[in-house]
Amino acid sequence: MENYKITTLNDFIILKQKDFPYAKGELSSLLHHIGTAAKMVNKKINKAGLVDIIGRSGEVNIQGENQQKLDVYADEVFISALLSSGECCGVATEENQNEIVFSDTFASKGKYIVCIDPIDGSSNIDFNVSVGTIFSIYRRITQRGEKVRNEDFLQEGSTQVAAGYIVYGSSTMLVYSTGYGVNGFTLDPSIGEFCLSHPDIRTPEDGSIYSINEGNYIHFPEGIKKYIKYCQEKDEESGRPYTLRYIGSLVSDFHRNLIKGGIFMYPENELSPNGKLRLVYECNPIAFIAEQAGGIASDGKQNILNITPSTLHQRSPFYVGSINMVRKTEEFLAWFS
Ligand code: AHG
Ligand code: MN
Ligand code: MN
Repeated sequence: MENYKITTLNDFIILKQKDFPYAKGELSSLLHHIGTAAKMVNKKINKAGLVDIIGRSGEVNIQGENQQKLDVYADEVFISALLSSGECCGVATEENQNEIVFSDTFASKGKYIVCIDPIDGSSNIDFNVSVGTIFSIYRRITQRGEKVRNEDFLQEGSTQVAAGYIVYGSSTMLVYSTGYGVNGFTLDPSIGEFCLSHPDIRTPEDGSIYSINEGNYIHFPEGIKKYIKYCQEKDEESGRPYTLRYIGSLVSDFHRNLIKGGIFMYPENELSPNGKLRLVYECNPIAFIAEQAGGIASDGKQNILNITPSTLHQRSPFYVGSINMVRKTEEFLAWFS
């Protein structure tokens, strides 16, 4: 009999709710519903090869990218879970051009909005490589009871109330923060509960892993080309050469570096002048987690969390992870710009 002290996600949410004197359980309910949706998506992913969930949906999403069937499924599951929580008045997702307004009277009184990447790294799903979900929670700006508006979803990342991700990997983990540190929960399929497995995650200030798609090397800014060569030079004192690790799922690459130390980079490049990753539902939530764990996230010049988005799907260059490594990258970008 495995005997370990079980603190489920729900136990923990309620325990931590006590940290918020004015909390009435709304955020707790929202996080609980996100956890439930994650379990439903996880079940599909675990059987991806056996159920009709891999492959393309035949649709193209608003990014002009081929939508995977799992993208569509996960999008629907998280949207309905957020609607049924009654605490969320609208959702912005990667898979929808515009924000989704919850017009039923119950949900329209919701205090929060959510921005979500339902499946991150979805091009990997057909090949059994780990994928993720990324979510970001804000208080709405508009009045409760009114219809939620676009401006509710374009708030500066530093105003997030909570953010997190699920990584559907060798085990399934949910990692989140409400601004008081970062905690990780591993799904125990035998009881269907996310159980606290990584309390108070802190990311090392330095690391020896760099994550970047070097296939785009010729398109990178000069400073990034020089930083990659810096990572590959021999220098025992600083532990170089570093190791290159790149899975192609932001959540998986980030999660490994968060625990071990390292930097993830998706630079602007000649092919995509603002990089590939979307500010609102990829960069901001990951940046929030990184900062809460003692790391940092930058667009190469400024803190990601200080950027005020102008459109839902705008992209940003993205450098995130161990603070000393991100700072070094910013130096190289400044020296060779
Ligand atoms: P998504 O599947 O949500 O579109 O995100 C994919 C992103 C991110 O997960 C990953 O880091 C990046 O795309 C990989 O891009 P490249 O294949 O261009 O390296
Ligand atoms: Mn993504
Ligand atoms: Mn996605």
